[in-house]
Amino acid sequence: MQLEVDRVALTYETSRGPLPALRELSFALEEGEFVSVLGPSGCGKSSLLRLVTGLLRPTAGRIALAGVPVSGPRNDVGIVFQSATLLPWKNVLDNVLVPVRARGRVTPADTERAMEGLRTVGLERFSKHYPDELSGGMQQRVGIARAMLTDPRLLLMDEPFAALDAMTRETMMDELLRVWSGTGKSVLFITHSIPEAVYLSDRVLVMGPRPGHIVEELRIDLPRPRSPATMADPRFGELGARLRDRFRSMAGPAEASA
Ligand SMILES: Nc1ncnc2c1ncn2[C@@H]1O[C@H](COP(=O)(O)OP(=O)(O)OP(=O)(O)O)[C@@H](O)[C@H]1O
Ligand SMILES: [Mg+2]
Repeated sequence: MQLEVDRVALTYETSRGPLPALRELSFALEEGEFVSVLGPSGCGKSSLLRLVTGLLRPTAGRIALAGVPVSGPRNDVGIVFQSATLLPWKNVLDNVLVPVRARGRVTPADTERAMEGLRTVGLERFSKHYPDELSGGMQQRVGIARAMLTDPRLLLMDEPFAALDAMTRETMMDELLRVWSGTGKSVLFITHSIPEAVYLSDRVLVMGPRPGHIVEELRIDLPRPRSPATMADPRFGELGARLRDRFRSMAGPAEASA
């Protein structure tokens, strides 16, 4: 689903006065596109995501989904948070069904779709297990299945793999691309990791320090499907180096990891 963010500003009212978090922030996401947002801690990435979900209203500017201004949470937008945010007292299947249950009764068709989602992320056999019986990566996959349940046309992901070890993270990147490819879904993916952004994306947007705005946009012209061999492509290194240079030239502590 197409997303337009047009000259958006966000100022929080805090106990110590107004805090400008975003300023003159503009970009667009096309149907089916995978775009990552890279930026230092505190530059407003999570705030941007909350604006797109409609949980928060901009102080100025316009956000539109498929041409319609965002006015509140929608069924066709899925969200994956940094930590899996599963309910420990519900089993895996019931956790995936949370968005449906919040809206009313769960039908057998809902359950079938939830099981299908769990199959897709490789957790069909764990549907009756509880979150604390799963590894961090498995919990994160439950979060992805939950976000996918309503078949969203836009998927918002806020550093979903940040807490994972390097090996699990690489597996998860491939699983995400596998689940995404061919669906026509748009993905807005927030990350601190330059290699992760390059590996996954069609385009990478770099945000500058607060008040956050886009300071650079880089098209990732690596062929798809991506695979571990992609990382050995000299172009992969070049694109990463470009982004790393951009980070170094920004004021403040460098937050992006190599
Ligand atoms: N609810 C809030 N009330 C007031 N200020 C807030 C609120 N949420 C965030 N902020 C401020 O807005 C700025 C941007 O925060 P945000 O969480 O969007 O950053 P971020 O880029 O996601 O950071 P990180 O990479 O560390 O997750 C920060 O300075 C933060 O203190
Ligand atoms: Mg954040």
